[in-house]
Amino acid sequence: MAPDQSLKRVGLLGYGRLVGDLLFKRLGGVPTNLPPPGARRRSPDLVVEVAHPQIIHDFGAQILSHADLLVGSPSALADRDTERRLLEASRRSGRSVFVARGALWGSEDITRLDASGGLQSLCITMATHPDGFRLEGPLSKAPREGPRTVLYEGPVRGLCPFAPRNSNTMAAAALAASSLGFDGVVGVLVSDLSLVDRHVIDVELRGPPGPSGQSFCVRTRRENPAEPGAVTGSATLTTFWGSLLACSRRSTPKPGVQLC
Ligand SMILES: NC(=O)c1ccc[n+]([C@@H]2O[C@H](COP(=O)([O-])OP(=O)(O)OC[C@H]3O[C@@H](n4cnc5c(N)ncnc54)[C@H](O)[C@@H]3O)[C@@H](O)[C@H]2O)c1
Repeated sequence: MAPDQSLKRVGLLGYGRLVGDLLFKRLGGVPTNLPPPGARRRSPDLVVEVAHPQIIHDFGAQILSHADLLVGSPSALADRDTERRLLEASRRSGRSVFVARGALWGSEDITRLDASGGLQSLCITMATHPDGFRLEGPLSKAPREGPRTVLYEGPVRGLCPFAPRNSNTMAAAALAASSLGFDGVVGVLVSDLSLVDRHVIDVELRGPPGPSGQSFCVRTRRENPAEPGAVTGSATLTTFWGSLLACSRRSTPKPGVQLC
C-alpha cells in the first residue's frame, strides 16, 4: 500500500459488491481466499473488516494479537463482551482498534463536545427505503404500514443486534460520544417509501441548559445518493477509503478504540 511507507500489508476480510471491491481495486490487491485465522500467515500490518459484525465477534481479538484492526461493522461493539475482548487484546498487543466513522457527519466535533462535558443528548435518525434494510429478529417482522414508519427508537445498543448492517453510523456515534455510549445515544430507524435512491441521516445533539435555560443544539442532515436497495450509499464508500488512509498514516501504535 502506497500512502505511508511504514504500512506495508493490508488484509481485507470481506469482498462485497461495493466496499470490498472498491478497497481491493484501490489497494491493488492479490486475491486469496483464507479464513481469518489463516490470514495471519500473510503477516498483515492492518486487517480491514468489511464483511459482517460476526467476524468482529469471532475473530476481532485474535486479529489484534498480530495486527491493527479497522472495524467496518462497528455495530459489533454494541456487544459488551466483544468490546471488552477487543480492548483487552488491544492493551495486550499494543495494536489499535480503528473504527470507520462511515456515514457519521461531524464525528470529531461530537467527540470534542463530549470531552468538554458539553454533550447531554445525541440522536441519530437513519431513514431509507425498506429495500435498503437488512433486518433480523423482531425487526424483520415489524409492520411497515404507510409511507413513513418508525421501526425502532431507543438506545443504539438495543438496535445493533437486529439491524447489524443498518446501525453502523449509530454505533460510530456511540463511540464518538463515549460518555453517552451505546446506552445513552438514541437511534431511530425509519422506513420511508419515498427514499428510493438515497439514505438520509439526521444527527441532533444538545448540550445542558445554560443560565438562560437555553441549550446548545446542532442538527445536521446528510443525504447520500444510493442505488435502489443498497445498504451503503456512494459517499460512504469514499469516506471508508478516507478512513483506511487515516489508519495507514498513524505510525505510532496506540491501543484502544479510535474513530478514523
Ligand atoms: N462503516 C462504514 O462506513 C461501512 C460502509 C459500508 C459497509 N459497512 C459494513 O461493512 C460490511 C460489508 O459491507 P458490504 O456492503 O461490502 O457487504 P456485502 O454483503 O456486499 O459483502 C460482505 C462480504 O463479506 C462476506 N461475509 C459476510 N458475512 C460473512 C461471515 N460471517 N463470514 C465470512 N464472510 C462473510 C460476504 O461473503 C461478502 O464477501 C457490512 O457489515 C456493512 O454494514 C460499513
